[in-house]
Amino acid sequence: MNINKVMGFKNVIIGMMFPVLLNAQTDTIAIQNQEFQTFDSYKDVGYNQTLRPQFHFSSKKNWINDPNGMVYYDGEYHLYFQHNPTGIKWGNMTWGHAVSTDMIHWKQLPHAILPYGKSTIFSGSAVVDTKNVLGKQKGKNKTIAAIYTAWGNGQAGAYSTDKGRTFQLLNNGKTIVPPTGINKGERDPYIFWHEASKKWILVLWIKRAAKEGSDEDKMGKVRIYTSDNLTDWSMASDFDREWVFECMNLIELPVDGNKKHKKWVVFDAGFHYEIGDFDGKTLTTDKKTLQGDFGKGFYAAQTFNNSPDGRRVLIGWMTNSNGADEKEGMPFSGQFSFPSKLDLRTTKEGLKLYRWPIKEIENLYTKSYQFKNISLGKAVEKLDNLKAELMDVSIEFEPKDSLKLSVRGLDINYNLNSESFEYGNFKIHAPMIDGKVKLRVLVDRSSLELFANDGASVATFFAIPKADNLSVSVNGGLETKIHSLVIHELKSVWK
Ligand code: FRU
Repeated sequence: MNINKVMGFKNVIIGMMFPVLLNAQTDTIAIQNQEFQTFDSYKDVGYNQTLRPQFHFSSKKNWINDPNGMVYYDGEYHLYFQHNPTGIKWGNMTWGHAVSTDMIHWKQLPHAILPYGKSTIFSGSAVVDTKNVLGKQKGKNKTIAAIYTAWGNGQAGAYSTDKGRTFQLLNNGKTIVPPTGINKGERDPYIFWHEASKKWILVLWIKRAAKEGSDEDKMGKVRIYTSDNLTDWSMASDFDREWVFECMNLIELPVDGNKKHKKWVVFDAGFHYEIGDFDGKTLTTDKKTLQGDFGKGFYAAQTFNNSPDGRRVLIGWMTNSNGADEKEGMPFSGQFSFPSKLDLRTTKEGLKLYRWPIKEIENLYTKSYQFKNISLGKAVEKLDNLKAELMDVSIEFEPKDSLKLSVRGLDINYNLNSESFEYGNFKIHAPMIDGKVKLRVLVDRSSLELFANDGASVATFFAIPKADNLSVSVNGGLETKIHSLVIHELKSVWK
């Protein structure tokens, strides 16, 4: 997928900024620009606008893109994010901040890292400095270290000694990762602790070619660095692939739930991925590139570092609202996907990522409707009186014919020939297993998330259900056997 088509405007702007920001590093003391601490002006904004996500995170006000610095510490999940603190369009990149105890109910806090010098703060990641290698710890609270792209100025860092609320610049905000010299677009450092080699690891997306504007310049490679102290980074290896573009992640997951057998997954912003092994320096894979999302609105995802229960929970930016938020007069633009748990499973085609909404969603259920082993004809009758706005719908059926599931007027068809669910022009492959197919659907005020066959294929969309349609319906051969149809009505997380 050509990412420039997906991201359009935003990447054109990022591209144009090169000449302005080159060599922006100075020796003066870098101070975060307090003009961008606009959070006071957010306090009177509510969460009940027509397109405001009710069980997905959005900023009270203004633009968001990538999730950043996702990390758990001392009872709190931290979600930092690319944020324009002064407007509804991309710009003035700052790290916004929200905290949660369950990854679903979020409390937005003052912006955490503000632009300084000539740099805005692009995407990056965060870890808990458990061994105090930065030497910044104050009292009992561990330091949270963030490493990000200080745009135009390389990869820089900041640290927090107050549980992620405020950050001081590390090394006066100067670059801490040696520039590659290949091209200036390198960005989005992802850091983690590698227990086997007892090193901190940083993976960075770098461009491949020196020549700006060439095709080669668009795609890149992944450069891997190691460090003992989170500040001095040495290059370990390059992982060179055509498909990689922005926001690289490298995570380890058990295979089929076996904690003694783990594999590494490398993925980029478009959620292309490969599975392989990582020895602390070099990443080797089978070179089979897979796709982690088949929709149109999933980008730049990250997982929480330092998970308290070993789960790998992923959140991505739901793109492609095409300015709808703004057109509809929303005070915000952008939202995040529902947190989902990642697993690696063995399938007929080999190892594959599975993704499933976190179980905490159950705490939002208000009313539930369950129908077991009924014909489609019977289901039509049963669904007649149902009315709900926010829903978590699961269906398992034996397709004999095509079947259409409509959730608030959003139509999802099962195509028997291609054994896929179809939403608009998008296909989500879901082959029958023992003659049956499964689909789970999450619908909010401006999103639709589809999880086919227990999360084997997932598709995320910015989508606006029909405002006056609060129904769920099924269409198709009346004798089609529905093994199970479960509908949970959800409550808003903002009340
Ligand atoms: C991905 C991205 C990152 C960059 C950030 C800037 O959406 O382009 O590569 O750091 O957004 O906002």
